[in-house]
Amino acid sequence: MSSIQVRPLRGDLSFGARVAGLTWDNINDPAVRKQLNDVFEDRGMIVFEKVEQTSKFQVAISEVFGPLKDHPVKMVERLDGENLPGVITIRTDPNAGMVEIDGKKLLTWQPWHFDHSYNNELNRAGVLRAQTIAPDGGMTGFADGIQLYKDLPEDVRKKLEELTVIYSLDLDYSRQPYGLPKNFKEISGKGEALRKAAEQLPHALHPAVWTRKTGEKVAHISPYGARGFAGKTKEENDKLFPELWDAVEKHLTPFFHQWSEGDMVIWDNWRMLHMATGCDPSYDRIMHRTTIKGDYGLGRWETEPKTQSTADAMA
Ligand SMILES: [Fe+2]
Repeated sequence: MSSIQVRPLRGDLSFGARVAGLTWDNINDPAVRKQLNDVFEDRGMIVFEKVEQTSKFQVAISEVFGPLKDHPVKMVERLDGENLPGVITIRTDPNAGMVEIDGKKLLTWQPWHFDHSYNNELNRAGVLRAQTIAPDGGMTGFADGIQLYKDLPEDVRKKLEELTVIYSLDLDYSRQPYGLPKNFKEISGKGEALRKAAEQLPHALHPAVWTRKTGEKVAHISPYGARGFAGKTKEENDKLFPELWDAVEKHLTPFFHQWSEGDMVIWDNWRMLHMATGCDPSYDRIMHRTTIKGDYGLGRWETEPKTQSTADAMA
């Protein structure tokens, strides 16, 4: 049976690994599965190189790390056809989510975030593969909350350790108060359906810093959908959130993944932040993503969902 080859993502980074040689021949080998889980826990993300580009293999890779979870937002596009629960499609759509940064229009741009921050549970991981690669741009950025915590100034760490962030499912940038780039304009929003779903849902709360079972502290804060820190007035948040987010952004040491044919990427959603650089609206960019179940146990609703149907909207 062939073995896998593991090497660092990049020599100067404290996170991330590259794995080559993963095939149908070895993916069910318990020793390989254990090795992959150990690398994932240690490094926070893995770029799988030259792997079979099918949804079936994406699901097989995902299931090495845990069972799949259906995406919590019902309006998100699912992969049709094959019996592949949990594979969603993220595509360039000129009618939704177009932004302009420094005069340049972009589709599929997203700020630094962790997935499902608007939910009380945080999925364990996401796995992405590129179905259609934009010829320019379209990168996915990854940054490590463990490295971030270590590198933040002591006073910022202390403040963050006391704080809980409020997140909304309303992800339109026109209503995002903090953390947007300078010279930013939202050209088209995420759509009425998402706004209405967000209205039915309480905000979710997540700590800005948490401690892993293995002892490392993780700085885990995102401006995407954030409405400020719990227990602070609007005036206090308007001062504190930009001040702390600026400090966080300065200390991110990101890796920007330029997608190549044959790649799949998994990241630890409890530890990593990720972002999408976006691409020119004339290009197609189609990604397929799976979501791996789990929860770190520290998120909660600000108020309980009012009705079962509200809770069902997120089930
Ligand atoms: Fe994401």
